[in-house]
Amino acid sequence: MSKQFDVVVIGGGPGGYIAAIRAAQLGFQVACIDEWKNAAGGPAPGGTCTNVGCIPSKALLQSSEHFDHANHHFAEHGISATGVKMDVAKMIARKDNVVKQNNDGILYLFKKNKVTFFHGRGSFAGKAEGGYTINVAGKTEEAITAKQVIIATGSNARALPGTPFDEVNVLSNDGALRLGAVPKKLALIGSGVIGLEMGSVWRRLGADVTILEGLPTFLGAVDEQIAKEAKKAFDKQGLKIELGVKVGEIVNGKKGVTVNYTNAKGEAVVLDADKLIISIGRVANTIGLNPEAIGLQLDERGAIVVDGDCKTNVPGVWAVGDVVRGPMLAHKAEEEGVAVAERIAGQHGHVNFNTIPWVIYTSPEIAWVGRTEQQLKADGVAYKAGTFPFLANGRARALGDTTGMVKFLADATTDEILGVHMVGPQVSELISEAVVAMEFRASAEDIARICHAHPSLSEATKEAALAVDKRTLNF
Ligand code: FAD
Ligand code: NAI
Repeated sequence: MSKQFDVVVIGGGPGGYIAAIRAAQLGFQVACIDEWKNAAGGPAPGGTCTNVGCIPSKALLQSSEHFDHANHHFAEHGISATGVKMDVAKMIARKDNVVKQNNDGILYLFKKNKVTFFHGRGSFAGKAEGGYTINVAGKTEEAITAKQVIIATGSNARALPGTPFDEVNVLSNDGALRLGAVPKKLALIGSGVIGLEMGSVWRRLGADVTILEGLPTFLGAVDEQIAKEAKKAFDKQGLKIELGVKVGEIVNGKKGVTVNYTNAKGEAVVLDADKLIISIGRVANTIGLNPEAIGLQLDERGAIVVDGDCKTNVPGVWAVGDVVRGPMLAHKAEEEGVAVAERIAGQHGHVNFNTIPWVIYTSPEIAWVGRTEQQLKADGVAYKAGTFPFLANGRARALGDTTGMVKFLADATTDEILGVHMVGPQVSELISEAVVAMEFRASAEDIARICHAHPSLSEATKEAALAVDKRTLNF
């Protein structure tokens, strides 16, 4: 007889493993199936985020930032560092170790919470009495049954038609995170989140980086004022970003890659590079899941169709994270995973899509929550704006990093915070205050009246909130 579970989660990324843990906490018999393999063929739960996404990219951003500081910023502190070298193999090995610690951490959490882990590919076999049968193909094959199924199979990098990833010269996020040496010339297609983060890593290590972006605007989803400030900083660093290009033929040759494109002026350009990273978005992944076996509905882009509660068209089958609509972010996947586990338990799980923060971990970092100024204009909302530059913040001066600003957007009548946008040092951490404030529907004045530690970067948040009412104290 097949093993029976109350809840089976397919996919062990941030959406899946968190859903499994929450469901187990709520008293269900839970299994989680994940097929990711480490270099030795063993289990590596954590999905894209842990293995080839959030975690390894932040490890390389940290290493490359240290290198950049040693080369360019130590001197101003009176520290002389000559002959600074980067051992790329060691940097990658450190990153791999960080990844492994996270994989092991998830396996430990499964044990702690009594989640049964299956290493292999899960696919629907069909309906079973009171639920569904799922085949698990790993080292061995077995079938398990579940009353409720949560699908969290994530996403894969989108390829350019006619240019498959070989992960040698033409790289997805996977290859971009394990280059063996710093390429002399690196080309990237797509100046979105991955393009900017990966471009920053390899530029800091000495690569000549060109990013080709199809759209005429830089970071269209980001508040225009913030995007403009970030672009200024990237230009100064020597990150070459060409907007409004049309990518043509790409030749993957023995010595490297040639990208033919038309620039914004309509001129034909030939770009030779040692490596090419393609970062033009991601596609929902249902490969091998066999959704047809239960009549699961997918949309025209291959994403699983769900309602606002992550219910699919099949009773008792839910889907969360990158495989469904909404932003492809680890914390969004986690929130949906928790909410679904709670709904299965009859509770009222809730995800507030208006307060999901975004962070781009470049230098300066970019972070935001809520609506941008351009969105508020388009929505016809009357608003007040307040900004405060890090240039006027004592802690930023002491850190030696005064790029950027904090910007508040508040309702013109009620003063409720509608959006907070930041570019500057450590704003990935500062944005949490804005998320909490918006979650509690705070006004700009609420933040302005709260005592913030001095000297701290968070004082820029308070000052930007004061600026909404035109009463900054330090600018
Ligand atoms: P995934 O993490 O993709 O996990 C899906 C898992 O399911 C995988 O382990 C996969 O092997 C497994 N699977 C798929 N099909 C099956 C099957 N049939 N049977 C068994 N297992 C299966 N987001 C952030 O919030 N912050 C960041 O800093 C950030 N950085 C990123 C950097 C990069 C380079 C990339 C590519 C992404 C980054 N993201 C970041 C996005 C983030 O990684 C995703 O939003 C997140 O991983 C989605 O989680 P998920 O659980 O939906 O899917
Ligand atoms: P993205 O959607 O952020 O950016 C893709 C960019 O490629 C866009 O600017 C788009 O206009 C451009 N583009 C698309 N087709 C093109 C073409 N043919 N030619 C030229 N440009 C083209 O996608 P990206 O960077 O691949 O990242 C995927 C997702 O992963 C992100 O949207 C995000 O959800 C997640 N992610 C999150 C991170 C974070 O939270 N810090 C870090 C990295 C990824």
